[in-house]
Amino acid sequence: MPVTAPPTIAALPTPPSTSDPANFDTRADAFMAALPTHTTETNALADNVYDNAVDAAASAAAANADKISAAGSAAAAAASAGAATWANTGATYAIGDLRKSQDNGRIYRRLTASNAGTTDPSVDTTNWAIYTLDPIWAIKTGNYTAVAGDALLIDTTAFEANLAAMDAVLPGEALRPHVKATKSTALARHLAAGGHHGFCAATPREIEGLVAAGLTDDLLLANETLDTARLGALADRANITVAVDSDETIAAASTGGVRSVLIDVNVGLPRCGCDPADAPRLGEAARSAGLEVRGVMGYEGHLMMVADRTERVERTAEAMNLLLAAAAEVGGDVVSGGGTGTFDVNTHCTEIQAGSYALMDTDYAKLDLPFSKALSVLATVVSVSAKGWIIADAGLKAFGMDHGNPSWDDGEVFFCSDEHITLLPNTFESWRVGDRVRLWSAHVDPTVARHERFQLVNGDQVVDTWEIDLRHW
Ligand SMILES: Cc1ncc(COP(=O)(O)O)c(C=O)c1O
Repeated sequence: MPVTAPPTIAALPTPPSTSDPANFDTRADAFMAALPTHTTETNALADNVYDNAVDAAASAAAANADKISAAGSAAAAAASAGAATWANTGATYAIGDLRKSQDNGRIYRRLTASNAGTTDPSVDTTNWAIYTLDPIWAIKTGNYTAVAGDALLIDTTAFEANLAAMDAVLPGEALRPHVKATKSTALARHLAAGGHHGFCAATPREIEGLVAAGLTDDLLLANETLDTARLGALADRANITVAVDSDETIAAASTGGVRSVLIDVNVGLPRCGCDPADAPRLGEAARSAGLEVRGVMGYEGHLMMVADRTERVERTAEAMNLLLAAAAEVGGDVVSGGGTGTFDVNTHCTEIQAGSYALMDTDYAKLDLPFSKALSVLATVVSVSAKGWIIADAGLKAFGMDHGNPSWDDGEVFFCSDEHITLLPNTFESWRVGDRVRLWSAHVDPTVARHERFQLVNGDQVVDTWEIDLRHW
């Protein structure tokens, strides 16, 4: 916007003075008469200064948005220029390979490691997904046009990359994905299609949901329960194993009709698990109660967030030595433990119980893990305050907050209340009521449990919807 020149303020007439009594009355009248015009001219000058300042701020914000948008376009163009065109050659592609479609010239990213196939990437949605650097997410929101209303989003590119990174270390049954973090049998089915057929659950209700979804091969309730009759009722339909750490939980498993158990050993987390020295006795007690003892489990939850990798390796080994010693005396084939934080340093268990790796959160993202944030909450700006903050309609009821506030790429989170989040944007002037904001959760499990469904997005396209049918408790 061009700068508008300031209006002129006319000089006031000569003021009256008691040292000049002869002219006092005339000058006083003229001076007083000039004051209203003077006030109007002063206000016009103030308006001019204000308008010029607002235009200057808007120009600066627009220039910044243009700069970021241009950077996104330049990066997308660079990626596009470097990608070869897909050809039906029988070549083998790796996950993440970029190829240009023969049909529409757009860039697609390979989702699977397999041979090229005979179908152009633009129609082969099993093996390819449209590739965008997503400039709409690099700049201010207001562009999530494909998503109706507020939503819990899974970015499919980050999600598939997380699964691939996990599979590279723990393929097939080496990983027993924990559904407590993801709470969706549709997502679990996707993992099963990728080769992980056994699942962990934290509650009997999650086990019931997995069975109802037909995921019955090998389910572990990696937790203690006395509510065993509902698991026994499923014993003819699914292979269900339950963690036990006391005579009481063994008795409950037996009377409830559960057939198999793991002896849960405490390896340092002040939570469930028996004293390692008591594990052999409990193993015998379980066998005497008619239960199959498949082995042991021990969850080193207190080590998940150890920042220094060398320390994580050493302390995980110490914890797992306790578990392995117990395993040797209890018997059975299964040594189950681990989680996202220790997935590759816990080389001691026969299976790892990770769950958060698939969607991630800002807490786990602080570690040196090969997983990136795939889960976000899309909310709407419902109020803009002239004091410099904006308010979106997702608060404590949309996020698990025990690991801290959600994060926002376009500014800072001021605070959360029940239904609101107050945000301090980097560029305040550009925000309007109705704009959308994408917020990152600090703790995936309790965040997911509050929502009804995931919307899977690729760039700005919604590609699928998955019910969070195991939500709540
Ligand atoms: C028994 C058990 N195993 C494994 C995990 C690992 O989960 P995550 O991968 O989310 O760290 C948890 C998480 O709380 C757990 O309670």
